[in-house]
Amino acid sequence: MKERVREIQNFNLISQISHTPRRAVKTIFKLKMLLLGETFPNFTADSTAGEINFHEWLGDSWGILFSHPSDFTPVCTTELARVIKLMPEFAKRNTKVIGLSCDSIASHVEWCKDIITYAGINEDEKFPYPIIEDNQRKIATKLGMLDNDELDTAGMPLTARAVFIVDPNKKYRLSILYPATTGRNFDEILRVIDSMQLTDTAKVATPADWKMGGECMVLPTVPDDKLTSVFPQGVTVVPLPSGKKYLRKTACPKTH
Ligand code: BEZ
Repeated sequence: MKERVREIQNFNLISQISHTPRRAVKTIFKLKMLLLGETFPNFTADSTAGEINFHEWLGDSWGILFSHPSDFTPVCTTELARVIKLMPEFAKRNTKVIGLSCDSIASHVEWCKDIITYAGINEDEKFPYPIIEDNQRKIATKLGMLDNDELDTAGMPLTARAVFIVDPNKKYRLSILYPATTGRNFDEILRVIDSMQLTDTAKVATPADWKMGGECMVLPTVPDDKLTSVFPQGVTVVPLPSGKKYLRKTACPKTH
């Protein structure tokens, strides 16, 4: 029942925001949820770097699309500054980054000056990644980024702190959704990119709190009689009360 009330609230809000006929909003609600492994929806949007076609902008890179609630807010400023500092790390991982919020491009451009100053880089330097304007909430609605607990002065929901990671095949690989009051941990975002890029090429999965170079788990799909050929570095089977030999560890495979 609670969920249904929420759904109706969302329905009414989207009607108001987008001035979309109620029948069309019903269609939006019928859109199926995006699942990991599916093609990430393409869109065009205005940004601080001009009009962007998301798939074309990605090219052959991995991409991180991250939204934030509002310009000129303290937590967001620390996050966007952190992303500036991490640009060399994203480049090492062939990963492009793009921000999004419900504010206008003019507002983004003004705010970028504060972010650059907070990041402690030269004010004359170009802001190193684009920020999308989504004041109609079109992309935020399509991707389920709205946070009904955070409203703007007109009572419209702001975008949550969403993170979407898309691979070079435009596949949707990961999403994390944070509330407005919790800033993101960008070391974690680099860590999951490392894990996905490693596990795309090696027959391993990465355990809890893994970091690049740490011990990995042999995939359950690798049969015991293939262990020596697939993992010449060796495999350790951890004894467990069940007697099942499923917890198999190996040194982190070299990727290049
Ligand atoms: C912030 O970025 O500081 C913020 C934005 C919206 C709600 C709470 C905090």
